[in-house]
Amino acid sequence: DKGAYPFYMLKEIDEQPAVMRRLVQEYLGADGQPQIDTELLAQMKAADHLYIIGAGTSYHAGLIGARLFERLAHVPTTVHISSEFAYEQPLLSDNPFFIFLSQSGETADSREVLVHVNENHWPSLTITNVDKSTLSREATHTLLLYAGPEIAVASTKAYTAQVAVQAILAKALGEFVGNQAAQSFDIKDELAKVANGMQALVDSKEEIEAIAANALAKPRNAFYIGRGIDWAVSLEAALKLKEISYVQAEGFASGELKHGTIALIEKDTPVVGIITQDRTAGLTRSNLEETAARGANVLTIAARHLAKEDDAIILPDVDPMIAPLLSVVPAQLLAYYTSLGKGLDVDKPRNLAKSVTVQ
Ligand code: F6R
Repeated sequence: DKGAYPFYMLKEIDEQPAVMRRLVQEYLGADGQPQIDTELLAQMKAADHLYIIGAGTSYHAGLIGARLFERLAHVPTTVHISSEFAYEQPLLSDNPFFIFLSQSGETADSREVLVHVNENHWPSLTITNVDKSTLSREATHTLLLYAGPEIAVASTKAYTAQVAVQAILAKALGEFVGNQAAQSFDIKDELAKVANGMQALVDSKEEIEAIAANALAKPRNAFYIGRGIDWAVSLEAALKLKEISYVQAEGFASGELKHGTIALIEKDTPVVGIITQDRTAGLTRSNLEETAARGANVLTIAARHLAKEDDAIILPDVDPMIAPLLSVVPAQLLAYYTSLGKGLDVDKPRNLAKSVTVQ
């Protein structure tokens, strides 16, 4: 039931702080340490490479997870679009471990890969919102997202739950293998900060609605840009905008713009920069200036410690590794309000189904 909400999507965006708190309860002990099955951790430790498999938004969540597994657990990790991996399998390492990300647990493209993984007796984990779903039943291990039912076609709380569960698992694995970076990452404190930060962002809806009305209501196309994990969030931000508002949106690595895409910038083309990482903030800002010089309507979503006066949206500070948990929220709201402003059916965009059970 969506109660007083006009659309499920807005309800689900608003539920994100509660989902973060639920994940702390489900996965972290009183001492703040992850409580993860040691058999799962032992199988992951025995692997020389983690392969994350997902489609759409789940693939985008995997892009963040890969960085977390590499930094916190020091294990090489790659992310693959399930429909690509199934038919163009890369050369695998000797001891692969597979992580399937799927809100529904029923995505046919991802299942196709899991069938192959099982034929080869490789160990696997499904991270899903649906207990006893196909991908959960068929994988060696399951971790649940505890996000509650996600009804809107556009995925929101499942994305942030997928990122958070991967952060918890990466912390657990990093501790298990004795990696220093994991020991100094206080996941409990960080997720508490994330929950509060998300609450502040969803409480600033009206500002974001106004930005959407000014910048995104008319243009036919828009860009999100960033570097590193800010680029990964740009891909998800663009997907949200295109699937429900039908604005042609692209997420771009900001350094790549000048290698071609900047040709598309015209007067008032919206370019949203995501800026949460110390090393790349200055570079992304200068890439934004290059688009502004060509007439772009530049908007910035910046972490507080990197913020400048003209930034459109300022994010509360958290560990930069998990900044996507906050930077995606304004992008979800921008997509929502752009769709709403156009009078579209936010929860049921044209041509799309919630669960894609064909290949
Ligand atoms: C986008 C969206 C889709 C799904 C994709 C995978 O908002 O919802 O891109 O993320 O179809 O679905 P699951 O996660 O159920 O495997």
